[in-house]
Amino acid sequence: MKNSPPDMPPAPLPYLPSYEKLEDDEAQTAQELAETMLHISQTVAQDEGRALRSVHAKAHGILRGTLQVLPLPPTLAQGLFAQAATYPVVLRFSTTPGDMLEDAISTPRGVAIKVLQVQGERLDPEDGLQEQDFLMVNAPVFGVPNAKKFLSGLKVVAATTDRAPRAKKLLSMALRGVEAVIEKAGSESRLLKTMGGHPATHPLSETYFSQVPQLHGLYMAKYSLVPVAPQLIGLKEVRLELADQPDALREAVTSFCAYQEGVWELRAQLCVDIQRMPIEDASVLWSEELSPYVPIARLTMPAQTAWDATQAPSADEKLSFSPWRGLAAHRPIGSIMRVRRMAYATSSAFRQRFNEIKG
Ligand code: HEM
Repeated sequence: MKNSPPDMPPAPLPYLPSYEKLEDDEAQTAQELAETMLHISQTVAQDEGRALRSVHAKAHGILRGTLQVLPLPPTLAQGLFAQAATYPVVLRFSTTPGDMLEDAISTPRGVAIKVLQVQGERLDPEDGLQEQDFLMVNAPVFGVPNAKKFLSGLKVVAATTDRAPRAKKLLSMALRGVEAVIEKAGSESRLLKTMGGHPATHPLSETYFSQVPQLHGLYMAKYSLVPVAPQLIGLKEVRLELADQPDALREAVTSFCAYQEGVWELRAQLCVDIQRMPIEDASVLWSEELSPYVPIARLTMPAQTAWDATQAPSADEKLSFSPWRGLAAHRPIGSIMRVRRMAYATSSAFRQRFNEIKG
């Protein structure tokens, strides 16, 4: 009797330039997207007197800790993860709206990770930085297939805000999870979540996803950040009291971090099938049955002050993240990723400039 072969995960697919297909008029789309986001930021800045991020404006904690790259097999030991090493990191937790809404309007959560002291060939050889950023939100799939579709929805949103007497509030309504509002194709529950009906979960208990792919050295991957410390997993049961507490999320993060350590795993999902795990259609969920997320690094945040009211607001203004800030080995790929390059650069340059002038 023959033994059946053991269940081996399929081999990851090496990246080929032919997998990437520029959309028609993609440069024009990228330009218009950056301008539309900028227009949103400018409207908010005039209303508010400070320039905020056009999305993910409100931070609920800025944490410092370390990222420990695990010993990995060759297909995973790529780029930043090539060697088992430890790096300093900064984490910024946020919610999606483009203004400082009260947390009673509960919206999807985001996290931005900045790995510091990173060596290697840079995406932008001129930036002179040693940073690798990863940006994630707490849902596994983007929901809009490509940049053109994303832009057409965003324009509708931006046009209505121009006519609104209280532009800022309306903008945030619209940007409460841009993708679902724009596409209007998500499930009811998804739309509800993005419009302020997100369950009152603790931001530190969530699993976060990059949603769209980037190079993982020779391969292509999406990333996730998963809480693994028992005290973080315990927070999954928590439902926060959000009514009448405008900064309830920040308070929850701050009170946890004051006394407890947080440990997360950074995981990678390698592309093994370009048809079923496409890079040019961001609306397709990459199946975890085809290729599971596997741990590549451990993120540890010791107990600390997550939000110091005297220093954090200005530190937050100066901080910026972009999927395009990092190593060539982690180049963002696919239409949504490509157009983000100009949008983030334009947005952060505008808010730095505006706020510097305002002092
Ligand atoms: C075409 C698609 C997208 C566009 C145009 C876009 C645009 C932007 C812009 C302009 C900002 C503010 C940047 C700043 O002022 O510093 C931002 C922030 C952010 N975006 Fe996106 N985004 C897109 C897709 C995504 C996706 C797919 C994710 C993650 C799954 C994501 C996660 C975030 C996060 C976490 C932040 C906050 C970063 C921080 O903490 O500073 N975005 N986005």
